Amino acid sequence: MSLENKTAVVTGAASGIGRASALRLAQDGADVAVIDLNETGLEETRQLIRGTGRSCLAVQADLLDRDSISATFEEIANNLGPVDILHNNAGGPARGRTRSFPNATLEQWDEVLTLNLRSVADCTREVIGGMKERRYGRIITTASEQAFRGGPGFTDYSAAKAGILGFTRSLALEIARYNVTVNAICPGVIKTGITDNMPEEHINASLASIPMGRMGEPEEIAHAVSFFASPGASYVTGTYLLVAGGRTLH
Ligand SMILES: NC(=O)c1ccc[n+]([C@@H]2O[C@H](COP(=O)([O-])OP(=O)(O)OC[C@H]3O[C@@H](n4cnc5c(N)ncnc54)[C@H](O)[C@@H]3O)[C@@H](O)[C@H]2O)c1
Repeated sequence: MSLENKTAVVTGAASGIGRASALRLAQDGADVAVIDLNETGLEETRQLIRGTGRSCLAVQADLLDRDSISATFEEIANNLGPVDILHNNAGGPARGRTRSFPNATLEQWDEVLTLNLRSVADCTREVIGGMKERRYGRIITTASEQAFRGGPGFTDYSAAKAGILGFTRSLALEIARYNVTVNAICPGVIKTGITDNMPEEHINASLASIPMGRMGEPEEIAHAVSFFASPGASYVTGTYLLVAGGRTLH
């Protein structure tokens, strides 16, 4: 139970990677606050975490809305105390609306950039002062292999995920002396709501390009989160871990 007496926050925790991460951090001993738009999924995650014996606070919030983010972190501080670990995980491409660059609307760009990049900065801003003061903190963000590979129709998403890596490195440098680490995880194709919504030919093409010949499981990303949050990762900052079954190797 390496995270006993720690408080973690996971965004986008109503399903997929966020749910697996929240559950894993609770199994590691942390009390966990989970944030998402999807209230039903959030409640399911809360029940799963309660099964571990740890405290869990579920807050429904829209991460596109800064006021909603501030109110959410205030509620978390009032209920669970200071945040030690933040997993910025909510995100995704413009579902069903992915378009070639000239055809993507400005609204699509704003939404994808705001959810995948600006909300990461907004959530981090809510906890970084306290972490600095207490000289302890772990910021972990879900980026994507798309930050490296790119893909037609994903200019907005790839730009946002690459932006996370720049944010991670710069913040890590700013905050290193305060014992706050800042790292990112770059998942490959992971079986979640995002892949469930992909057309079959897209899935088959993805599978053919994965050296390990299968999609990853959300729990395999949660292991990486658990590592970055663990005492064993105390000297690891400003970096990323690709968890992609070898997909970026060719
Ligand atoms: N699944 C993959 O193949 C894959 C690959 C690389 C990166 N990722 C990244 O992993 C992260 C998690 O995605 P996932 O695959 O678990 O998909 P998912 O759809 O299961 O989870 C995303 C969660 O984010 C929540 N969310 C979306 N918009 C929100 C908003 N405005 N406010 C609050 N919550 C919001 C959703 O309700 C959902 O629960 C994302 O950042 C995604 O970009 C996923």
